[in-house]
Amino acid sequence: MRVLSQLFANNRAWAAEMTRQDPEFFERLSRQQAPQYLWIGCADSRVPANQITGLLPGEMFVHRNVSNLVVHTDLNCLSTLQFAVDVLKVGHVIICGHYGCGGVRAALRDDHLGLIDNWLRHVQEVRRRHQAQIDALPTEADRHKRLCELNVIEQVANASQTTIVRDAWSRGQPLAIHGWIYGLQDGLLRDLSMCVTSDTELADCMDQAVNARSR
Ligand code: CO
Repeated sequence: MRVLSQLFANNRAWAAEMTRQDPEFFERLSRQQAPQYLWIGCADSRVPANQITGLLPGEMFVHRNVSNLVVHTDLNCLSTLQFAVDVLKVGHVIICGHYGCGGVRAALRDDHLGLIDNWLRHVQEVRRRHQAQIDALPTEADRHKRLCELNVIEQVANASQTTIVRDAWSRGQPLAIHGWIYGLQDGLLRDLSMCVTSDTELADCMDQAVNARSR
């Protein structure tokens, strides 16, 4: 009960298998991390960043929260972003949502779940900004799906407007902010055609992604 022995057994087996495949793996990794990617994803247990992208430890810096939000007052997310961009110098920030997101569904339905309602106000703000497009969809499933996509698009815009990303761009540091969405039902990632690599691209990228048909 207190020890969770199954997880420790799994860990020993995993570490032994990694060492068998590459005897230097942990030794090398313990000296330095040099990931090329920062992943900002949902905390949902079904969307494990490294596994779905086939990346090893050391290859992706990860921040996850409920409904993959980039909020300008969230010191946790901003600190992760700043460290990834300024210190690790990642070239890519991937904001990845997923269909079937419970946080997005709760925001869409105005559910009352407790403290988290305050966090999900940010998703309700996305819903409000795109109310006409969302209301025009025929079923709740369609509206939920589209709000999951629009939420990612808005979070890419939020990340692009942070001082961290704008400063990186203004000093000429190559940095792309990508918007992706993951399907729980097929395990596949989809690119939302929202990829911003400079200040000047943001408005056009946003227009195209928001006006693209839901896929
Ligand atoms: Co989710």
